[in-house]
Amino acid sequence: MQPFDLFPTSLQKILVKLEDQDRKEREAKLDRMQRLRQIPRETGEFLYQFLTSFVPQFPQFIGLEIGSSGGYSTLWQGMALVTSACGKLISLDHDPKKYRLAYENIKATGIDQYVTLSQGDAKDYLKNSQGKFSYVFLDAEKEDYLEFFMLLKDHVSSGTVLIADNVISHKDDVLNFLEMIHEDCRVSSIILPVGQGLAYVRWI
Ligand SMILES: C[S@@+](CC[C@H](N)C(=O)[O-])C[C@H]1O[C@@H](n2cnc3c(N)ncnc32)[C@H](O)[C@@H]1O
Repeated sequence: MQPFDLFPTSLQKILVKLEDQDRKEREAKLDRMQRLRQIPRETGEFLYQFLTSFVPQFPQFIGLEIGSSGGYSTLWQGMALVTSACGKLISLDHDPKKYRLAYENIKATGIDQYVTLSQGDAKDYLKNSQGKFSYVFLDAEKEDYLEFFMLLKDHVSSGTVLIADNVISHKDDVLNFLEMIHEDCRVSSIILPVGQGLAYVRWI
């Protein structure tokens, strides 16, 4: 049985609707900045499985998602918190239209107790917030990955895990980030061939 099969039907319908919208937008060759550009279901299932074992290790788990889009990846991660019956996920997107769609989807599934969406630039958020995170999912513009990694240094502690998407599909765009996580002695990292390729980075 896959994690998807365990979800309530109402949530399955929202996930499938978002998958259909994402596929149709790609087929119609809609401008990439307007598209949902979601993670594939395989990545959602990986994040769900990982977080259901990771989250309960923390008395007060706080996760951060950079790039909510329409809330597809947020729903997968949020469901891991629901299953664990603890934790909080803060998800950021600067696009007002995508923020509204994510808001409607999170509200409709009733997981807003575990997920807080915020509209705004994630770089400004990291520069102005004092928050510490046990986990970060990075899925914004690929050329910003290195900058986000640098900005995260004040928001992590030993054991924090960063998962960054598209590091195989967009390898050329994230080369400076990949070099940094390989060389930086404060972190250990591995590239996982899940979906579009995930960088798994853990602060030592
Ligand atoms: C690849 S999509 C995210 C897809 C989403 N994680 C999912 O799987 O459903 C990237 C998103 O990052 C947002 N984004 C890009 N740069 C951002 C920034 N600096 N601050 C906040 N959001 C940003 C975009 O608006 C876009 O919705």
